[in-house]
Amino acid sequence: MSIVVKGIAKNFGQQKALDQVSFNIKSGEIVGFLGPNGAGKSTMMKIITGLLTQSVGSVEVCGLNNSNINKDYRRKIGYLPEHNPLYQDMYVKEYLQMVGGVYKLPNLKERVNEMIDLTGLEREQHKVIGSLSKGYRQRVGLAQALIHNPEVLILDEPTTGLDPNQILEIRNLITNIGKEKTVMLSTHIMQEVEAICERVIILNRGKIVADSPASQLDTLKGESEVIVDVEFNKECDLNKLLQLEGVQSVEKASSTHYKIKSNPKADIRPTVFQFAVDNQLIILGMSRKEMGLEELFHQLTQ
Ligand SMILES: Nc1ncnc2c1ncn2[C@@H]1O[C@H](COP(=O)(O)OP(=O)(O)O)[C@@H](O)[C@H]1O
Ligand SMILES: [Mg+2]
Repeated sequence: MSIVVKGIAKNFGQQKALDQVSFNIKSGEIVGFLGPNGAGKSTMMKIITGLLTQSVGSVEVCGLNNSNINKDYRRKIGYLPEHNPLYQDMYVKEYLQMVGGVYKLPNLKERVNEMIDLTGLEREQHKVIGSLSKGYRQRVGLAQALIHNPEVLILDEPTTGLDPNQILEIRNLITNIGKEKTVMLSTHIMQEVEAICERVIILNRGKIVADSPASQLDTLKGESEVIVDVEFNKECDLNKLLQLEGVQSVEKASSTHYKIKSNPKADIRPTVFQFAVDNQLIILGMSRKEMGLEELFHQLTQ
């Protein structure tokens, strides 16, 4: 196991930022840590990296316990903090040399050049960090996180604030890097998890509400309902509608517009059509919608 988190709680005064959080991450896994703002993602990541200490519970990274944060522990982890704090007035290359120097890398020059290659910073290496676009700053952040060749990468919202092209570039970069490392990345974007991660852990108000392979997000979705949105030409008898086979509940959007929650395995549209015929209603519109990822996320974290 690369990361073992057991029964973690973290209190800030009265507030419980994390409560009974436990999970394991295997070596080589890319795990998405998903949750709305304030869920506790950054707090959990800071505890894993050793920047914060937990109130209760234990954390191990590559077999080392976070009760003793030493050089060995730090060398296991590469960390890209939220908002990626960088020295704005340093040159890219100079900054990476400084970070590598902190780790006392024997082959510093070579290693800095490798990182510049890996993260696509060739043309920017002689520029001042403050002059770079946000996408390139994220690359510098990734380069500094990787320079000491850590086994585990902790990336806190690596694509937040980037434009759509930059998001794609950084996602591709992370996917490439992830082939050789254990990666834990936080995000509040459900699609990000689908794009990059093998597994998703969803955190809400300090608690884990889902932990599932990304490929099974569809199954999670499948267990929830499907909405049939129908509009008639006039008001119908709600009780009759509720009694139709496969209908779970009905939300009346207006006097003629109904959102019918139904069993995901059934398509109730023919039944609704027959209902309209039997009750002399004209259907002005009807559509069936499965719950999307965003709605699933909303349902799990509301
Ligand atoms: N240093 C701190 N002092 C007090 N409260 C904090 C501190 N850091 C985080 N919190 C609180 O803990 C909760 C979780 O925050 P955080 O881990 O940053 O969430 P996320 O990264 O998921 O948005 C929030 O309610 C936040 O206000
Ligand atoms: Mg955060």
